[in-house]
Amino acid sequence: MSKLVRFGISLGEDLLSRFDKLVAQRKYSSRSEAFRDLIRAALVEEEWKEGGEVAGAITLVYDHHRKDLVNRLADIQHDAHGLVVSTQHIHLDHDHCLEIIAVRGRAQRVRLLADSLRSVKGVLQGTISMASTGKKLD
Ligand code: NI
Repeated sequence: MSKLVRFGISLGEDLLSRFDKLVAQRKYSSRSEAFRDLIRAALVEEEWKEGGEVAGAITLVYDHHRKDLVNRLADIQHDAHGLVVSTQHIHLDHDHCLEIIAVRGRAQRVRLLADSLRSVKGVLQGTISMASTGKKLD
């Protein structure tokens, strides 16, 4: 962790009051911790926009009875083996599967992989959790 630096922030009373409510709602131990999190969230958003190295999770829900769909999802992941760190498969019920694919790599490639997977016919839901490698967030 880099050296801590203190600095002051000027903002309106109303805005500060709303911020303090947010700090309490989200269970932060201090304003500083909440503020650090907001900064990190903005920096991670930029990493994804700028196409840097990112980490994240692609989550898919689909019907496992469609064998063509299951094979297609596996093919796409094999083609992107450099991005896929691990895959977890959960049998939700008799018909539905949840797949969580941990990914790491260039943001654009990760997005493309997520788009390729969720656009396969039969995928009921596909989301992407845009996280970070954590390297530049200390
Ligand atoms: Ni399953």
